[in-house]
Amino acid sequence: MSGLRHIEMERLQEWLGEVREGETTAALMLAVAYDKGIGTGELASWYDRSPEAVEETIASLDSPEYVAEIARLEGVDVETVAEESGLTVDSVEAWFAGLSDRPVPEAATVIRGYAEDGVKPLLTGEPSTVYHLDHGAMTEHGWSLDDPDLFEKAAEADLDLPEYGRFLVEPGESILEAAERDGRSWPYACRGGACSNCAVVVVDGDVAMPGQSVLSDELTREANARLSCVGVPVTAEVRLVSGVDELDEFADLRLPSPASDSGDAGSASD
Ligand code: FES
Repeated sequence: MSGLRHIEMERLQEWLGEVREGETTAALMLAVAYDKGIGTGELASWYDRSPEAVEETIASLDSPEYVAEIARLEGVDVETVAEESGLTVDSVEAWFAGLSDRPVPEAATVIRGYAEDGVKPLLTGEPSTVYHLDHGAMTEHGWSLDDPDLFEKAAEADLDLPEYGRFLVEPGESILEAAERDGRSWPYACRGGACSNCAVVVVDGDVAMPGQSVLSDELTREANARLSCVGVPVTAEVRLVSGVDELDEFADLRLPSPASDSGDAGSASD
């Protein structure tokens, strides 16, 4: 068998002009030659590799996630980016894989940025749309966070603000900042990733949390909890349930709201 199944060859060849490192170039050249019908045994002798290594390289590029593989070959430290972003490695790899929808030079520029400065968290350069449903409204309707069609139900139920709505998050803005800019007054206390007052649960899409220091792995990975004051969307759309700070899971991390002292914003839960 020869020929790649998943990648457009023109796109793969375009990457050759954009990559920095020798290893990526060699991998792309292997894939291109393989697509032209050269066998893995012959390629192994050309590039002084074992046939198994050649097959492995081709398989890693012949996948819908091939841009994530190019990022790794270019030297992006996916594990560190995940740690800095408060995301799982899988989420970060999915984010890099999603660059395949962008023009190659643009995607390559993003990858180069992370390869040269691997400690920075994921940040998108595009606005994201956040759909939100209030936790109280969700339970009143008898719905749960596990409902696969939770947001379809909310849309059909004709709910309105403050229970349900959407707003745009600009690049560099946190979800809480964008919610407030658009007229919501969600709960908060520290505004710096150190309590649970501004917690939300992400149902669809993903949100990075650079600088958060309090949520456990269990809360972030299993419950998909995020802190909206430091949370930045890394997908074009995010669906989240707000007002979850009253749940038992977050009780130990809650701080007194600023409204308790001043009577000002910080306690509302829309
Ligand atoms: S308000 Fe404290 S972590 Fe967001």
